[in-house]
Amino acid sequence: MRRRSFCECARPDRFGPGPFGRDLVGPGRLCRDRVRRLGQGRPDRDDRGVRDHRQQGAAGRHARCREHRCRAPRRTPRDRGRLLRSAGDARQGRRLHDPRRRLAHAPAGRGPHHAHGPRRPAQGRRRRHRHADVLGPLDPRPHRAGQGLLGRERVLCGNSFAVRRGGALTRSVAAAPVRSRQSRRQFLIGGAAAGVGAAAALGTVRALDHAPASQAEAALNGGHTVPFFGEHQAGVDTSPQAHAAFVGLDLRDGVDRDGLRRMMRLLSDDAARLTQGAPALADTEPELAVVPAGLTVTFGVGPRFVQRAGGQTPAWLRPLPAFGIDRLRPEFSDGDLLLQIAADDPVTVAHASRMLLKDARSFAAVRWVQRGFRRAYGSTPAGTTMRNLFGQVDGTANPVPGTPDFDEAVWSGQGWLAGGTGAVVRRIHMDLDGWDALDPTGKEASVGRRLADGAPLTGGSEHDEPDFSATTPLGFPVIADYSHVRRARGEQPAAPSERIFRRGYNYDDTPVGDDVSNSGLLFVSFQADVDRQFVPIQRRLDELDLLNRWTTPIGSAVFAIPPGCREGGYIGETLLG
Ligand code: HEM
Repeated sequence: MRRRSFCECARPDRFGPGPFGRDLVGPGRLCRDRVRRLGQGRPDRDDRGVRDHRQQGAAGRHARCREHRCRAPRRTPRDRGRLLRSAGDARQGRRLHDPRRRLAHAPAGRGPHHAHGPRRPAQGRRRRHRHADVLGPLDPRPHRAGQGLLGRERVLCGNSFAVRRGGALTRSVAAAPVRSRQSRRQFLIGGAAAGVGAAAALGTVRALDHAPASQAEAALNGGHTVPFFGEHQAGVDTSPQAHAAFVGLDLRDGVDRDGLRRMMRLLSDDAARLTQGAPALADTEPELAVVPAGLTVTFGVGPRFVQRAGGQTPAWLRPLPAFGIDRLRPEFSDGDLLLQIAADDPVTVAHASRMLLKDARSFAAVRWVQRGFRRAYGSTPAGTTMRNLFGQVDGTANPVPGTPDFDEAVWSGQGWLAGGTGAVVRRIHMDLDGWDALDPTGKEASVGRRLADGAPLTGGSEHDEPDFSATTPLGFPVIADYSHVRRARGEQPAAPSERIFRRGYNYDDTPVGDDVSNSGLLFVSFQADVDRQFVPIQRRLDELDLLNRWTTPIGSAVFAIPPGCREGGYIGETLLG
């Protein structure tokens, strides 16, 4: 049977006041015949919803709609007295839950049990807008049927009928929800009605509705800025942002020292602006610049850059030695200039990349772009160690920024690089499908740490030291000699000369052929001296590391990260100035 929400006999002369002397306004006014029927508590002929409600009410199969008390049997006068919610209501003699009134407020065609009627997509939403058009903002006071839960039922109920009393808009009365268009709130309330986590759901909804604007704004991260100027470039000891783009550029032929200086001035100037939420100098989309979301831009220079600048090239600033595990591809390797652009918002990263590449294009051409991600901002507490796409906690045994350990491992004190560092960027493909075939014990053994929390297999919690001397009852090491952490650590205790600071990102690209993933790690490490600190570790891993079975380096590049600069200066001035 076709269900109707509104009288289709809509003749103006047949419209009149509702059963309690109020005009029902809105696009779905009821005709007198219908009002009379409903006022007498009789089901609407066309309203299957009402009949269903009556048939099912006693059986209690539906959640109770407390606004309309859909399942409530007729109440005795005593009951009704109890339901008078406020002195005001009592004074005005409003019988809040008089069943006749319940029905009178129900939109015809849906019945008061609107929440359970069949789908009527689109209409509900449209009607709500029409109400808003006709009536303006609805009365913000809590739903008459009660505070809190009942107030939220207005949300459950979805559409609203407004009741005008003496010409003044006083309240809204719930009408039909449209399930197919359930909002997050409706979903939560639905859970509450089903008795699942009701309190929590409602608390959440209330928080959504009533969070003061200042609180909501405090939760925003878009305005967060990281200073651009300083002793060191930002983006090394900065807490890693959620998104990053690494861009490798090749210098164009003929770009000399002056050209390099001009380019670095331009790039530094725009990076300084963008990181502070200001448009680049010739920003074509300035609207995108106003959400810096912790943007940092970190510049690195390759060996050819230093040569053209006429500077002294650090001995380690060259491609890494060839390793047996490498399957390097030129499209992910080497380069003269590195831009590491990172922010908690991918739009910010995209915009900054574009602006900076426009600055650089007459001096250099893009060689490769590699994009990576970590957990989205706000998904995990600040300071949580990242997880790579194998599911491992990755980055635990890192030097901690701001400590002498970190300063010693990362910041260089050499010549034009003093205050800078060295960067290794390796694209390491991870065979997720092969990894899937391994059981959890095998996965943990291959690294030497627990998957659940990153704790060493010898026990404790994530940041506890692994005990490499611990053995099983059969005399085997608990952390296998071939495990990744054992091999990466090397000597015991770890030689300070081999400390590196890892700050990588996951990547997940389009699968090729029959594969279902093309993923891996953009391994990024900072260390003052790549040869002294990084290469010995990589050499050991190349010789033996169970993880090699599922990982393949496919890209590799080394850059020097010049120190930071003061306001008015530019990155690279210690080399080019
Ligand atoms: C896809 C490749 C890699 C994966 C999945 C991976 C994963 C991990 C994991 C899960 C840990 C243990 C937790 C931690 O301390 O961070 C770890 C530790 C470590 N990894 Fe890797 N890693 C990879 C490549 C590399 C490379 C290329 C190097 C350097 C050449 C490296 C150096 C280290 C170091 C130094 C440690 C700390 C060891 C310790 O002192 O406990 N890793 N790695």
